[in-house]
Amino acid sequence: MEDVTVIDHPLIQHKLSLMREKDTTTAAFRSLMGEVALLLGYEVTRDLPIEYAEIQTPLTTMKAPHLVGKKLVIVPILRAGVGFVDPLLQLLPSARVGHIGLYRDPETLQPVEYYLKLPEQMDDRDVIVVDPMLATGHSAAAAVARIKAFEPRSIKFMCLLAAPEGVAHMRERHPDVPIYTAAIDEKLNEKGYIVPGLGDAGDRLYGTK
Ligand code: URA
Repeated sequence: MEDVTVIDHPLIQHKLSLMREKDTTTAAFRSLMGEVALLLGYEVTRDLPIEYAEIQTPLTTMKAPHLVGKKLVIVPILRAGVGFVDPLLQLLPSARVGHIGLYRDPETLQPVEYYLKLPEQMDDRDVIVVDPMLATGHSAAAAVARIKAFEPRSIKFMCLLAAPEGVAHMRERHPDVPIYTAAIDEKLNEKGYIVPGLGDAGDRLYGTK
């Protein structure tokens, strides 16, 4: 079983506290989301494979490390996941970006896919699925299941905040997918919000409330 990594770096924790505050403005929230995504992304990409190739410095030649393999794929779950894309592209400028959109059927309460666009040759690629909030875990698990059908080389899941229920659901459905998060909060409330949480990440990111 893969692990859940809580990236409890002081910079991330400080920025997350600012994001949690209810009076943080949309502009500040958006900028903090970008900063935290960069810091999380640094850890999520820690085990990317490298190869050594000879380069010429102004002084000499050396065998220098380079990233290898097909361009990896960042897949945000619409819509809040999009807030993670630009900062991750700063770290991985050549990465491909897929998108997946899911809504919750009001009767069955199950996630239903309404949009999917992924790059070609998924079977040769490593994927990072991103969504700031891992709440019930149903959307994340459905998104990962859909992407697994394309048989990528690996999948990781990156979020900002997780609820214990979401972590448990993902571990049950996808024990092979490592989860990276800045914090695991106390619980979900009856409306499916993470508590203490930060509210609706999409609304706070886009100023829609
Ligand atoms: N999605 C959010 O944006 N916030 C939550 O607390 C739970 C799900």
